[in-house]
Amino acid sequence: MSRAVAYVLLGPPGSGKGTQAKLLAPKLGMAHISIGDLLREAVRNGTEVGKLAKSYIEAGKLVPDEVAMKIAEDAMKGPACEKGFVVDGFPRTIEQAKLFDALLKRIDFNLEKVLYIDLPLKEILKRLTGRRSCKKCGAVYHVVFNPPKKEGVCDVCGGELYQRKDDTDDVIKVRFDVYQKETFPLIDYFKRSGKLVKIDGSKDVKSVFSEICRIAGV
Ligand code: AP5
Repeated sequence: MSRAVAYVLLGPPGSGKGTQAKLLAPKLGMAHISIGDLLREAVRNGTEVGKLAKSYIEAGKLVPDEVAMKIAEDAMKGPACEKGFVVDGFPRTIEQAKLFDALLKRIDFNLEKVLYIDLPLKEILKRLTGRRSCKKCGAVYHVVFNPPKKEGVCDVCGGELYQRKDDTDDVIKVRFDVYQKETFPLIDYFKRSGKLVKIDGSKDVKSVFSEICRIAGV
């Protein structure tokens, strides 16, 4: 029997992967890993990885596989993942998926489920152009669907809310094209392993989460 389990949240930009992963991980008593958040943190801290990743992220392109892999591997091997993890935004290419399979074997983790949250482009545009994130704690809001109590201020920690540079119409379209070309093929890849479950991401946050909990058996 494997040491622990892993859940993957897959889906187009803005489908709610981060929102759901933040709810699911504590419910399962597992760590939450967001490669996007870790990359943005590296950019903020001006690390070598951050300097390299900045231009890719701002243009809506994927960072090179080896960069994403290194960040993922360091996080997954960390003590916080002892009881398992929920990862969102990874893997995003077939190459990353293959390397991820090999990594899971090395660290003796079992891939439990790949939760594929589906959402059409029209909805993605509404979700992403209205998204606001906290600079301090990373909490995510939406100006219409999930507004903070006080405009521009995080309910959780009082931090300042900001709009991501890649959440403009033009960059969102690039991200969606990149998703279709590079990441969409992963749906078939994980279907073949029998681990993929498709979820309708167009419902409200609570309904999507109920469906995910039902699938995860919690
Ligand atoms: P990343 O940060 O992972 O961006 P993404 O995949 O484009 O996903 P998002 O964070 O935009 O959306 P989400 O699905 O998490 O939605 P959220 O829950 O926030 O990656 C950013 C960049 O980093 C990439 O472009 C790439 O450059 C790089 N990168 C990351 N991983 C990489 C990898 N593996 N390989 C290479 N490069 C990588 O929700 C969106 C909004 O909708 C929020 O405002 C939220 O409040 C709202 N909302 C959520 N759910 C609902 C709902 N059910 N109803 C109404 N509103 C909702």
